[in-house]
Amino acid sequence: MPERPYTLLSCSVSLDGYLGDQTPRLALSNEADFDRVDGVRASCDAILVGAVTVRTDNPRLLVRSQARRDERTARGLPPSPAKVTVSDRVDLDARSNFFTAGAAEKLLYTSSPRVADARAKLGPVATVVDGGSRVRMRRLTEDLADRGVGRLMVEGGGTVHTQFLADDLVDELQLVVAPFFIGDSSAPRFVSDGRFPWNAGRRAKLADVTQLGDVVLLRYALSHRFQDA
Ligand SMILES: NC(=O)c1ccc[n+]([C@@H]2O[C@H](COP(=O)([O-])OP(=O)(O)OC[C@H]3O[C@@H](n4cnc5c(N)ncnc54)[C@H](OP(=O)(O)O)[C@@H]3O)[C@@H](O)[C@H]2O)c1
Repeated sequence: MPERPYTLLSCSVSLDGYLGDQTPRLALSNEADFDRVDGVRASCDAILVGAVTVRTDNPRLLVRSQARRDERTARGLPPSPAKVTVSDRVDLDARSNFFTAGAAEKLLYTSSPRVADARAKLGPVATVVDGGSRVRMRRLTEDLADRGVGRLMVEGGGTVHTQFLADDLVDELQLVVAPFFIGDSSAPRFVSDGRFPWNAGRRAKLADVTQLGDVVLLRYALSHRFQDA
């Protein structure tokens, strides 16, 4: 069985556990934390987000710092990590930043029946990967490992978080808590319902707590592979 990439799930939540409100790209975090996240991105081989995040936030998912891009280039890597998304509807715009920004590879995983449509729509801008009858994150990560991804950063949204966490595929959770409430139960949550490996009887290991201005970063070690860097 192929080894999975070291998988780090990074996100910011409001005090009441939401990923944002209904508007695109609500800033939960602050500049100091954006810079920290930029450093984490620069340390990874690939960044994965769900298709709703691609559609609503239109993220570029690039390393922002020129020094970090130069450092990657000097190591023989592309300036920014590869980008990975997953979709079944394949209602994605080939002109969105996910596909157009940066030179690194873009990968789209979809289920077998959707592959032909996905290739017709997005073949020129992405590598479309057949994820089988239903895309499962474990198999997806194994496929990424086969493609040379040793370190994967998962950056949302909640539907993707839920699958990675419930399937016990996350080695490290980096959770930033913003100092305000969203207060809208229809807003996207950190995770949706699921059976998670951590519960009242099996508590996750809190590895580190860092204050960054008005937000706090909580780092959890979720597997024996946790790298205390
Ligand atoms: N605060 C943060 O750090 C942060 C980070 C990222 C995102 N966000 C927010 O999170 C929200 C989006 O979260 P979300 O939970 O609604 O969506 P999401 O996780 O970004 O994307 C979900 C979509 O991904 C595709 N997908 C997921 N699992 C799949 C599977 N196994 N097989 C096939 N396709 C699969 C489906 O796309 P199709 O519908 O195309 O089939 C699904 O609708 C946005 O509001 C965004 O702003 C916040």
